[in-house]
Amino acid sequence: METKQESRISPRNGRRVILFPLPFQGHINPMLQLGSILYSKGFSITIIHTKFNSPNSCNYPHFDFHSISDGLTDPSAEDSTTILITLNANCMVPFRNCLAKLVSNTNNNSAQEDSVACLITDFLWQFTHVADEFKLPTIILQTHSVSGYLGIAAYPFLRDKGYVPIQDPQSESPVIEYPPLRVKDIPKLETRYPEYNYPLVSAMVNNIKASSGMIWNTFEELEQAALTTLPEEYFGIPVFPIGPFHKYFPASSSSLLSQDQSSISWLDKQAPKSVIYVSFGSVAAINETEFLEIAWGLANSRVPFLWVVRPGLVDGVEWLEALPKGYLEMVDGRGYIVQWAPQQQVLAHPAVGGFLTHSGWNSTLESICEGVPMICQPCLADQMVNARYVSHVWRVGLHLEGKLEKKEIETAIRRVMVDAEGQEMRERITCLKKNVDACLRQGGSSHQALGRLVDHILSF
Ligand code: UDX
Repeated sequence: METKQESRISPRNGRRVILFPLPFQGHINPMLQLGSILYSKGFSITIIHTKFNSPNSCNYPHFDFHSISDGLTDPSAEDSTTILITLNANCMVPFRNCLAKLVSNTNNNSAQEDSVACLITDFLWQFTHVADEFKLPTIILQTHSVSGYLGIAAYPFLRDKGYVPIQDPQSESPVIEYPPLRVKDIPKLETRYPEYNYPLVSAMVNNIKASSGMIWNTFEELEQAALTTLPEEYFGIPVFPIGPFHKYFPASSSSLLSQDQSSISWLDKQAPKSVIYVSFGSVAAINETEFLEIAWGLANSRVPFLWVVRPGLVDGVEWLEALPKGYLEMVDGRGYIVQWAPQQQVLAHPAVGGFLTHSGWNSTLESICEGVPMICQPCLADQMVNARYVSHVWRVGLHLEGKLEKKEIETAIRRVMVDAEGQEMRERITCLKKNVDACLRQGGSSHQALGRLVDHILSF
């Protein structure tokens, strides 16, 4: 398959690309995957990163890493949106200084150094236009789906139309201008500082308009309709849907937490397609009541489960203390709980038949790539839109609506894992998986977009 060919390394082309990931797992993974893809195409790679959630440079000996200060004092006490706002306020000067040094080093040692072609930055950084001072073109990496991004970018419009602030978070009323979204699917941007939401969204859109291009971790066949709306809105900016990034290489090594490999040995003992995998990603949090509802929903479903309970997932609880005593004995070996799993390997394992997910974009894409139907329990931001697309556009999963309750979870698990309905979802998602294989092959849509991206960067 082409993915193997893609991972072959091209000769060095004498150009360097500087990447600046946002320091959250769901953003670090695609940015470092993109670095590996561009390295394989002959570019040298420099990563500028914050001290907070810094990636493990040992896993990328061929990349050049530079750390900048971020001024965060106690990130564990803040929600992710507040951290994002603080980072955007604190990092501009250190970032600019770091960029100045990197650019002047290359200019002064032009005989030995690769010349810097461009900066590739996460779409949620607000100040990276400072690269203009060094005449450095900027390309934006979008780590959301196109549809999820459009849901967030539409915020000012949705406010003008009176949809937000959302009066009734459970409202089924359609957002007429953005089908198939309903009011309850509008991305939730919750923060201690709601007054920053609109400036954040406006800065995001303005940065994109001023950039030299946008890279998407998606593929044309999946998001054709949403992709066709982009050139019109961002006229003149080339768009490169080259995903899914993680399929170019074996499982990613940019995990911030250690991945518990015993998940795989446990799965090895399970029957094909018998296990429901449960994970809510790196940011989402639930309360103790919701945690117990999931625990009982899993137990009552009688379906084997592999459950990622990340420390910090449950508000105010360290890890499993809230579980009833003897819970794991009660489910009689049918359940296995870890703090963090090698997710891509888990989803690719033949024993996994379903995924109860928070609908983060990486998780959604990883599930599609392995043909695993989903049960969606979105928590914030783009996840609401992803869940709507999974259940109502691609029809490869169910969307848990309303309160998280054990009976609803039990029923959803049995619908996906046992009933004929789940089999139909599996057939549809297997077709999407085939599209993934085709888009990465020579001449496929992502393969072609990557070729265009490489030419675009070389033209700077
Ligand atoms: C966040 C947002 O929640 C998401 O909506 C947005 O699209 C990206 O940023 P996160 O919540 O972490 O990301 O979810 P997701 O996008 O699914 O990314 C999680 C990543 O962590 C995935 O690549 C997944 O493979 C990895 N992971 C997750 C593990 O390696 N092990 C685990 O146990 C769980």
